Amino acid sequence: MADVTLTAGALLLRAWREEDVPALLEAYDDPVMRQWVRMPVSTPEEAARWVEVQREGWESGTRFSFAVTDTGRDGELVGNLALKRPGQGAERAEVGYWTAARARGRGVAPRALEALTAWAFTAFAAEGLVRLDLLHQVDNVASCRVAEKSGYAFAELLGALPPEFPLDGHLHVRRAPSGGAPIQRAPGVSPVGSSDSR
Ligand SMILES: CC(C)(COP(=O)(O)OP(=O)(O)OC[C@H]1O[C@@H](n2cnc3c(N)ncnc32)[C@H](O)[C@@H]1OP(=O)(O)O)[C@@H](O)C(=O)NCCC(=O)NCCS
Repeated sequence: MADVTLTAGALLLRAWREEDVPALLEAYDDPVMRQWVRMPVSTPEEAARWVEVQREGWESGTRFSFAVTDTGRDGELVGNLALKRPGQGAERAEVGYWTAARARGRGVAPRALEALTAWAFTAFAAEGLVRLDLLHQVDNVASCRVAEKSGYAFAELLGALPPEFPLDGHLHVRRAPSGGAPIQRAPGVSPVGSSDSR
């Protein structure tokens, strides 16, 4: 599954690779990133470990992250998109993202998020995925805009959880287009309480 690639116009989303380490370090060398993203990446070793964690995520099926690259700019690395799943069969998963400072304000995150969302609801439909959550702290206005522009509706105000989350947060939710995949039943078995005898 780590071979999955997604496209959104000129954006190509693909698995992270070892050779992305220099671009990853450059992206993290930014105060805004450090403010909003939890796992620090300051040294080549931390960056290599970060890439390894992404690979392990694909392997365990708990974290599917994509390097977002711009084919119109010679494959320049412009961001990261991740889908976090608690485990197989979970009906909810969470999305997370960042865009490199030099690429912000061009709609990279919403376009990549749209591609990830469509892929997630298709790839995990049979496993029951029907809902994607997006969380951000209240003062992360740019992230709130990404949620709104990507069809993740505001759902709930979350209380602060210091020290990790010193301020309240927003939960935004996007649901699967048709409420998810039809429930698989054994042949000839009617759903409990159903009057449909077909
Ligand atoms: C949040 C973030 C991913 C948005 O990515 P993006 O690709 O710039 O998304 P957009 O181009 O759609 O811009 C979203 C908003 O950012 C703000 N913005 C616009 N230009 C910007 C720029 N040059 N620099 C920073 N922010 C800008 C605007 O509020 C914009 O909303 P608008 O379209 O209504 O004007 C990006 O700002 C980022 O990586 N922030 C740091 C990490 C982070 O906060 N991740 C999310 C954690 S919940």
